[in-house]
Amino acid sequence: MEKQTGIINELIEKRYSPLAFDSKPVEEVKILKLFEAARWAPSSRNEQPWRFIYATREESDAFNNMYDTLAEGNRVWAKNVPLLILSVAARNSSFNGKPNYYAMHDTGMAVGNLLVQATDMGLYVHQMGGFDKEMARENLGIPDGFDPVAMIAVGYRGRTDDLPADLQKREKAERTRNELSEFVFKSSWNKSRG
Ligand SMILES: Cc1cc2nc3c(=O)[nH]c(=O)nc-3n(C[C@H](O)[C@H](O)[C@H](O)COP(=O)(O)O)c2cc1C
Repeated sequence: MEKQTGIINELIEKRYSPLAFDSKPVEEVKILKLFEAARWAPSSRNEQPWRFIYATREESDAFNNMYDTLAEGNRVWAKNVPLLILSVAARNSSFNGKPNYYAMHDTGMAVGNLLVQATDMGLYVHQMGGFDKEMARENLGIPDGFDPVAMIAVGYRGRTDDLPADLQKREKAERTRNELSEFVFKSSWNKSRG
């Protein structure tokens, strides 16, 4: 089904994960607002299990510590990205030390808030699972009990025409999603709304 516009919130509608980024730095005040938005996400028992490590391209050593962890395929398009953020989840509950089942969920929700805030400020975000988690742990000094979750590229939109041909094709490809009937069930599993 073709994507309909004007049905959902415009920030959700506008957001997508670009490959073409401009090298223009992200203003410090905007960086802080991204984390302020993440801060106000809900979390199980208000544990706030998320942590974020970030580096801007200007701080080249710190930035490369993050950039070097990226999978080859991500490095190609992320070469202009001015800001990298790593989300990290506290694995165990601060109440009882037991595994926090919701740690990843809640960390993802904080990133969801960050995405909305970014979009509202004219920024674009492209998350990545394609990075070396062990190298990230080592390069960034992440202690035991905390898990690197997603590397998050943030910046302004670049020109698609400046990308290599294969990435231009990827950037221009139609965005697809499952139909509601494939993932929304009424009353019980696999039961359609119809
Ligand atoms: C946790 C996570 C990991 C992802 N890993 C990668 C990645 O390593 N490389 C990449 O190019 N895109 C990655 N993506 C981006 C997804 O491919 C993208 O969000 C999805 O195709 C939907 O496209 P959209 O964000 O433009 O709507 C990742 C997204 C998420 C949320």
